[in-house]
Amino acid sequence: MQFAMNELDPATRYKLLVNTITPRPIAWVLTRDGQGRNNAAPYSFFNAMGGTPPLVAIGMAADAQRDGVAEKDSLANIRASGQFAVALVGEAQAEAMNVTACDAPPGIDELALAGLEARPSAQVDAPLIAGAPVQFECKLWKLVETGPHSAIVIGEVVVAHVDDAFLGEEEGRLRIDNPAMKLVGRTYAAGEYVKTDSPLHMDRLSWKEFSGD
Ligand SMILES: Cc1cc2nc3c(=O)[nH]c(=O)nc-3n(C[C@H](O)[C@H](O)[C@H](O)COP(=O)(O)O)c2cc1C
Repeated sequence: MQFAMNELDPATRYKLLVNTITPRPIAWVLTRDGQGRNNAAPYSFFNAMGGTPPLVAIGMAADAQRDGVAEKDSLANIRASGQFAVALVGEAQAEAMNVTACDAPPGIDELALAGLEARPSAQVDAPLIAGAPVQFECKLWKLVETGPHSAIVIGEVVVAHVDDAFLGEEEGRLRIDNPAMKLVGRTYAAGEYVKTDSPLHMDRLSWKEFSGD
């Protein structure tokens, strides 16, 4: 079966994407509003977009949950400040992450709501989360408007924080123990998550090995 996207209702279009493009990493987006109040929310339309410059992209939809609020708080705060942080979510943080997804009114500190301790960033005006395995401090690189009150936020990572427990050294090179972080991802339906601690290993082939030339 094929689906012409422009003939579908928005809910079906959305389902075709989010129930198939899986698993998706989760950006726990941390911002501050103009009054210095912390905000946190998860976004799984998220990925790294390159290393030089080190970019991440996050898709933020319009707010359909709250009467009279058109734009999600994360997007409004990033628009205003041009700064944010992203924490990755381990199994240990998953429940708290879910709490921060609630449709709280603007100005509510979801970090406090979820019982999380905020820590200062080094270079941006956004909180970090005590105990998160990995966090990125970001400056807004480009905002791509995708529709009314929705946008793709592209951020340049200016500082990366990795919990020392997951760092090591191998032959003089930085080693990051990703499986030990037990990061969770979003999968095919609302409320469904995947664990990422059973990777499938495949060495990449060079053309020489493949062709036998
Ligand atoms: C795991 C998870 C992933 C989510 N991913 C997205 C996303 O990629 N884009 C989006 O607009 N909303 C996403 N949401 C919904 C937002 O987290 C939710 O609308 C939240 O209330 C927004 O908070 P804010 O207004 O403080 O930014 C996701 C929710 C969950 C639980």
